[in-house]
Amino acid sequence: MEQKDIIKFSQVDFTYPEAEQPAVKALNLTLQAGTWTALIGHNGSGKSTVSKLLDGLLFPTNSDSQIMIAGLQLTPETVWEVRKHVGIVFQNPDHQFVGATVADDVAFGLENQGISRAEMQRRIPAVLAQVGMADYADAEPNHLSGGQKQRVAIAGILAVKPQIMILDEATSMLDPEGRKMVIDIVKKMMVQDHLTIISITHDLDEANLADQVLVLDDGQLIANGTPAEVFQKADLLERSGLALPFFYQLKSELMAQGINIPTTITTETELVAYLCQLNLNM
Ligand SMILES: Nc1ncnc2c1ncn2[C@@H]1O[C@H](COP(=O)(O)OP(=O)(O)OP(=O)(O)O)[C@@H](O)[C@H]1O
Ligand SMILES: [Mg+2]
Repeated sequence: MEQKDIIKFSQVDFTYPEAEQPAVKALNLTLQAGTWTALIGHNGSGKSTVSKLLDGLLFPTNSDSQIMIAGLQLTPETVWEVRKHVGIVFQNPDHQFVGATVADDVAFGLENQGISRAEMQRRIPAVLAQVGMADYADAEPNHLSGGQKQRVAIAGILAVKPQIMILDEATSMLDPEGRKMVIDIVKKMMVQDHLTIISITHDLDEANLADQVLVLDDGQLIANGTPAEVFQKADLLERSGLALPFFYQLKSELMAQGINIPTTITTETELVAYLCQLNLNM
């Protein structure tokens, strides 16, 4: 395993007890440190099962599989060590709170790791500032908006300094503004703290901004590459019950009208700039 490969699954199978079909089949994947990976797929395709395998909440059900996380082989013996490197933000902001105040909530994860009180008092304000929640340290979590709650959940994870952060549809219950804010914060953390991000999402426009996209279909990896590589496989995605990001839908309509869009253009922002330029040159 190269130093840069922070996550590696080799031939991972998982079948839930009493299930007829495996939820994950012969899964191989490699993720590099400090990158953003979007994991997409239809409902029940196995995305959350993969995130639970990553965190050792579930273990593969075949003996020849191997999961490597941050240089450690994930086994029942190493799971507590591995979990120090992995934080998960879940979908429902209301299910993530344990503290009576925002600061208590962030403190909880630190207490679990036996961090000293002095160090906690240093880290808590710092991470709340990172997610733009510094003014809310004494607020009660149930008085916050969904987006604010998710930002506190992220602060709680950043506080324990993991190498990997999994967002399991963490933005799906937020409005567009809350969604953008959470994504922007996580992007910034990725660069600043060299965090590796795995975002499980039904938002294909969000997936289009990732470094790498993985597509699961009935527990199998059916496509894997940069967003441009994956989203050009429109037929494959459609068969798997997935639409295309807005940018690719628009691009295909424009191409149908005879407007050629260079392959170097892969986002809405770049497309707008290109069309404006084209218009000026006409
Ligand atoms: N606890 C469980 N017991 C039995 N089967 C389960 C359990 N959890 C999930 N499954 C099944 O495993 C498969 C994969 O489920 P998983 O939750 O990983 O999908 P998902 O891609 O996260 O779906 P969604 O987009 O709806 O969140 C599905 O067929 C699901 O019904
Ligand atoms: Mg899920």
